[in-house]
Amino acid sequence: MKQVFESLRRAIDSELRVLFGGDGPEGGRLARATREAVLSPGKRVRPILMLLVGRLLAVPPGRLLRLGTVVEMVHAASLVLDDLPSMDDADIRRGRPALHRVHGEAVAILAAFDLLSRAHGELPGALALAKVARRRWALIQEELAAVVGELCRGQDLDLAGEAASVEDLEEVHAAKTGALFVLAARWGAYAGNPSAAEQAAVEGFARNLGLAFQVVDDVLDATGDAGTMGKPTGQDEGRTTFVDLLGVEGARRLAAELGATAVTELELFGERGTELRALAGEVVARAS
Ligand code: IPE
Ligand code: IPE
Ligand code: MG
Ligand code: MG
Ligand code: MG
Repeated sequence: MKQVFESLRRAIDSELRVLFGGDGPEGGRLARATREAVLSPGKRVRPILMLLVGRLLAVPPGRLLRLGTVVEMVHAASLVLDDLPSMDDADIRRGRPALHRVHGEAVAILAAFDLLSRAHGELPGALALAKVARRRWALIQEELAAVVGELCRGQDLDLAGEAASVEDLEEVHAAKTGALFVLAARWGAYAGNPSAAEQAAVEGFARNLGLAFQVVDDVLDATGDAGTMGKPTGQDEGRTTFVDLLGVEGARRLAAELGATAVTELELFGERGTELRALAGEVVARAS
């Protein structure tokens, strides 16, 4: 299964390279920064989720590659902003100096806007390639706008640091991380003309997976190795996290429970859910 994920990741990477060019020096400073932000080596979990949901509904991955990059552009923009000195003040991202460390804050902020703008610009073409029914396009455009709003709201809640209970933290995580996972799965499903039950199932899966993913990220912030993760650890110190409320083992258990809940959402797909079940397994396993 690892090979399946790896080949989808590579396919997403080459689609990103098609859109953002190779490693050449072309374009100005902003174009270079934007390219670095999106082409730097990420796990591409959100587009992989989209492609796997598509496969579940018999959509070939090739049809969804462009749409997958749209989601990845939004994600990459969120990371650039997240690392800024006024936010998490992180110096390293994906094993490289954070974008603002290379190009300065102003260019980093502009690159984030550039990526969000590009995501909107690529969307119609991506929907055509994905063969998503035209009647859904206007709604999808609204969903893209809304997910950026949710990301911002979640980041603000996170930075405010007022969450005091597991429920509060789940709300923050659902907004800052879960919403984009749900969007990736939802769009992957749209391409496969799902029944209402199938649509609800994949979104339920993604909601729980997204939460699990952020709980795991918080565990790794407390326990992980910065070198392996390609980003600083200990970033969440001074903020209430699941690890504070539940301890490392409790947070790992919560991630496992969320992963298991995600998997139960897939029951109606039977054997066809194998790849998504494996993805949930991979996400949870990173915490231990
Ligand atoms: C990091 O996301 C931000 C979180 C939501 C935890 P990823 O762990 O997906 O980061 P990349 O894209 O692989 O660098
Ligand atoms: C960020 O969460 C979530 C985003 C939407 C960017 P974190 O601040 O925990 O992400 P990392 O640990 O820096 O990747
Ligand atoms: Mg953050
Ligand atoms: Mg951060
Ligand atoms: Mg983190």
